[in-house]
Amino acid sequence: MKLHNFGIQDGISEVIATTISKEGELNAAPIGIISDDITHVRLYPDTHTYSNIRATKKLVANVVSDPLLFVLSALGDLGEREFYVVDGLPVLRCADVWALFKCEEDRQDSSLIHLHLIRGKVIRKSVRAINRGTNAVIEATVHATRYAATKDGKYLKWIEHYEDVVRKCGGAREKEAMKKLREFLKE
Ligand SMILES: Cc1cc2nc3c(=O)[nH]c(=O)nc-3n(C[C@H](O)[C@H](O)[C@H](O)COP(=O)(O)O)c2cc1C
Repeated sequence: MKLHNFGIQDGISEVIATTISKEGELNAAPIGIISDDITHVRLYPDTHTYSNIRATKKLVANVVSDPLLFVLSALGDLGEREFYVVDGLPVLRCADVWALFKCEEDRQDSSLIHLHLIRGKVIRKSVRAINRGTNAVIEATVHATRYAATKDGKYLKWIEHYEDVVRKCGGAREKEAMKKLREFLKE
């Protein structure tokens, strides 16, 4: 069983992580799975994803191509209808692939979580050409989460740049995602 069979490549693969809290609340948030000589994630400690992983030691990586889902899960909460449950763990209905990992906190650095693949499933093999608009939504969403954490205005400038790319290259879904991102920024 190899990571690349589940779409997770060398470098950083952006996925939506689904986790469950001790109380049974389902959560989804984008994270980057870092794959070099070891497979790991680096997590901000003040996130639901981090506290759920510490409580359950489990994470599901959902390979998702819908940019709107990245915006909604990064800046808000997904509704229960977006999930189904496999072995007591949440999986996204829109995932092309899911992969379940056992999580182990690094002994020296508690923000670094080692990932051990348990099992996964390829649901559909979607074929997509690279769309700069999709990539721009992902970049803008990363900056929006950093802006939310720091209130540093440089992120807003960068988001404007990616908005231009979405206007030129994005399809309807990318434009809807960017509109939603703008609404979150106004809140
Ligand atoms: C593409 C993308 C990748 C991200 N990667 C990470 C990551 O690797 N680690 C992290 O802590 N946050 C990452 N974030 C930010 C989290 O998704 C964000 O802080 C989110 O609000 C956390 O939600 P939660 O509290 O429900 O866990 C990423 C955001 C995006 C859009």
